[in-house]
Amino acid sequence: MKWETRVTQLLGIKYPIIQGGLAHLAYSELASAVSNAGGLGQVTAMSLESPEALKEEMRKVKKLTDQPFGVNFAIGQHNKRFESFVEAALEEDMQVATITGGNPKAVIDLLEGTNVKKLVLVAAKRQAVKAEELGADAVMVVGQEGGGHLGRDDVGTMVLVPQVVDVVSIPVIASGGIGDARGLMAALSLGAEGVEMGTRFIATKECVHAHESYKRALVEGSETDTVIIKRSLGAPARALANTWTDRILHLEKENIGYEGLKDFISGQTNMKYIHKGEVDNGYAWAGQVLGMIKDIPSVETLLSSMISEAEEIRRKWQQ
Ligand SMILES: Cc1cc2nc3c(=O)[nH]c(=O)nc-3n(C[C@H](O)[C@H](O)[C@H](O)COP(=O)(O)O)c2cc1C
Repeated sequence: MKWETRVTQLLGIKYPIIQGGLAHLAYSELASAVSNAGGLGQVTAMSLESPEALKEEMRKVKKLTDQPFGVNFAIGQHNKRFESFVEAALEEDMQVATITGGNPKAVIDLLEGTNVKKLVLVAAKRQAVKAEELGADAVMVVGQEGGGHLGRDDVGTMVLVPQVVDVVSIPVIASGGIGDARGLMAALSLGAEGVEMGTRFIATKECVHAHESYKRALVEGSETDTVIIKRSLGAPARALANTWTDRILHLEKENIGYEGLKDFISGQTNMKYIHKGEVDNGYAWAGQVLGMIKDIPSVETLLSSMISEAEEIRRKWQQ
């Protein structure tokens, strides 16, 4: 069956499936595996040490795949200047940039005059309209069931996606809560022309930077095992519920502010859990979709079974 949509055409990929930026996790191994399997893999730029490290990671991807891949820029986070990362990625012939975490204009301006495809992550209709006005080639719409940073409006994917489809003319990619063929087909029914998955890709063999304890928590956990932290800072984000997030939520109730919270929510604390497996000494982002994750397949197995199950759904619809 053909899987062509405006998203596959725009990105030059076989299946309309994109691996989301995953801070401290999604580098060359995962990105190349997703691109080799027919989706769009991505390197997460802003959790790398330096622009040089980004170039090195992109060179590694290019050795592992000849397929297109993206570079994710979460601007406004990690206290790093993103301009030098964008310039480094351009020097390595970046083909696709995804932009989140702040006003995308600065990155879009830097990409002017290049052929780089610009995908902007949004969590509200007004942001999608703005992204289109600024020159985005597509928007990725993240609903509140997703893992990591979310919009402030608490609107789910099911409600947000069709409304964004109605207000923009560029292609829409659905994100948040998608982990299997049913999610893919639902998103396409809502008018999206592709999906982005984050949490599902962590529980794969090629997500080599994720500690086994993290993957196990995703496989064993249920859809009620996440909480939203950092709401008091105006930056809500969904993480696995554990004793560490209990402490964060307790501190947030006391209105302790960024200074009081910063050591609890730092990248270092994130890495304690996700790289070292210190499950009580840190936090790990995850979406509600973890309730549907039951195995840790290779990316190739994940995508090929997702596509064949989606084709089965299509056949049933045609009967
Ligand atoms: C561990 C983790 C780290 C993430 N880091 C980033 C990031 O650095 N940049 C970004 O744009 N999105 C990031 N996200 C969001 C994902 O790209 C994606 O939008 C989200 O996971 C979709 O929801 P899902 O987890 O239900 O698939 C992260 C998500 C998770 C789970």
